[in-house]
Amino acid sequence: MDDAEAIERVRIATWHATYRGQLPDAALDAMSPHIEQRRQRLRDLGGAEFCFVAEADGRVVGFAVGGPERGHDPDYQGEVGAIYVLPEHQRKGLGRELIRESARHLARNGMTTLLIWVLRENGIGRGFYERLGGRAVREKPLLMPGLGEGYVEVGYGWLDTAALR
Ligand code: ACO
Repeated sequence: MDDAEAIERVRIATWHATYRGQLPDAALDAMSPHIEQRRQRLRDLGGAEFCFVAEADGRVVGFAVGGPERGHDPDYQGEVGAIYVLPEHQRKGLGRELIRESARHLARNGMTTLLIWVLRENGIGRGFYERLGGRAVREKPLLMPGLGEGYVEVGYGWLDTAALR
């Protein structure tokens, strides 16, 4: 199994565990691994973009991807677009390590502010970002193919990532 396949496996398993009851079952059940697309994205990563994986016993059990902030926000330069750790490996410090590497990478590329979007109902993600000192500073509708209206994402901001690094 290469990294792309492992990342997709983690993505889908963690989505199912996290968002069941928060997003429609149909949308979750329709998810499939996008292995070739993931491989391509890993090959095409630009200098300021990143993908870090967390391993346990030689197996990928978490990942974080991101780069420059995607929404032209005036206050935030960097973004973690996705961070997922398999449920059985959560609360062991892997998420913090992934954010640390992400913040370091962004800082090396001149970005010391950070924005991360999370589904409003996702208490796990929000608790994690709040523990790491993030502040809920933005809100926007979640737009995803196959998803109805009414879903909202909250943006957590760090105006200085020094403490994360
Ligand atoms: N509520 C409160 N505090 C929390 C929570 C929580 N739900 N989760 C972790 N923390 C705290 C930990 O106690 C720890 O604090 P400490 O160091 O003072 O003891 C700190 O946050 C770091 O915790 P980690 O163990 O490093 O976090 P973990 O490995 O569990 O990773 C993550 C956190 C990535 C949110 C993981 O739980 C996960 O994948 N959750 C499900 C998916 C998810 O919500 N992903 C984010 C979606 S948004 C996006 O992808 C942009």
